[in-house]
Amino acid sequence: MANKILVTGGCGYIGSHTIIELLQQTDYQVVCADNLHNSSDHVLEIIEKITSKKIKNYAVNLCDLAKTEQIFAENPDFIGVIHFAALKSVPESVADPLLYYKNNLESLSNILKCCEKFKVKNLIFSSSCSVYGNVNKLPVNEENILQKAECAYAHSKQVGEQMIEFFVANAHLNAIALRYFNPVGAHISGLNGENPRNKPTNLAPVITQTAVGKMKEVVVFGTDYDTRDGSCIRDYVHVSDIANAHLLAINYLIQGKNTVKYDVMNLGSGEGVTVLEAIQAFEKVSGVKLNYRIGERRAGDVAAIYSDNSKVQKTLGWTPKFGIEDMMLSSWKWQLALEK
Ligand code: WQD
Repeated sequence: MANKILVTGGCGYIGSHTIIELLQQTDYQVVCADNLHNSSDHVLEIIEKITSKKIKNYAVNLCDLAKTEQIFAENPDFIGVIHFAALKSVPESVADPLLYYKNNLESLSNILKCCEKFKVKNLIFSSSCSVYGNVNKLPVNEENILQKAECAYAHSKQVGEQMIEFFVANAHLNAIALRYFNPVGAHISGLNGENPRNKPTNLAPVITQTAVGKMKEVVVFGTDYDTRDGSCIRDYVHVSDIANAHLLAINYLIQGKNTVKYDVMNLGSGEGVTVLEAIQAFEKVSGVKLNYRIGERRAGDVAAIYSDNSKVQKTLGWTPKFGIEDMMLSSWKWQLALEK
């Protein structure tokens, strides 16, 4: 009986947490496809340590159709695909937009072709709140008209969603795009978490690397915004909550509960938290006085964005279990583990 899930980008931050969730909470077998461009196969050892299950990784560039087809040919019992693999650095996509269009869209196109050719009917697509662009109505819900993307990364996610929507209309495939807000945190065991290869730009690892002395300071990018304390508001959501949503979403499709062939859902906590509040939460749970200063605004930042997450709650029965203090504490435990 087919019961195998392909997780592309499974050695990455959210992908690895999702594989752990699938192996611990379901009977699915899992296969990973990750070219290790922005991750390490050491994550496979971490997954085995947490779950006692060894999984196979195909270190394949999914832009190579023949090699991607080979994965499906060797696994005729795939019942679904969770497609995380993509480049996702906003500044890198500004510097090299064509790299982002080619990589993110060609790999997605190959996944869609293989799903149809090998009769895999269920796809979960990793999308992003950045598809909303500069929003002027908060909280954002899935009915929001998407504004002009701020960068090639966000645009590659907007186009990716539309590629899937048009493709499934005339295919056997059913798909859900999950629009992540700001993923933060680490696995409860302290054995897995965000482990950026290069200097991080996103807030949580900047905070924890500063707290352990790997970075000199946190610069708060502006406190002159029109928000309750002047710093930007974001919707932070625990990576373990995100992983659980992927399990619920793939099960929803496999069990045929979907009423449409393509759907999109926000994956956020629904709570807006300011940068200064996030820093205060970190200091509270870690007991560390953080070295930060107020700096200039960062180009491309929006003052505030947070989700209306009622659709995913109603459709998948998903509710976020962790708040900002849990996120900061698990990130801190993970950073300390990395320093050992
Ligand atoms: C959060 C807030 C910064 C660092 C990004 C991607 C988005 C999505 C989620 C993929 C902002 C402030 C940050 C620092 C700071 N990724 N900040 N000092 O930009 O909201 O979203 O991650 O889908 O596409 O853009 O996340 O963590 O960079 O910033 O003040 O050193 O923290 O200004 O307000 P962002 P972030």
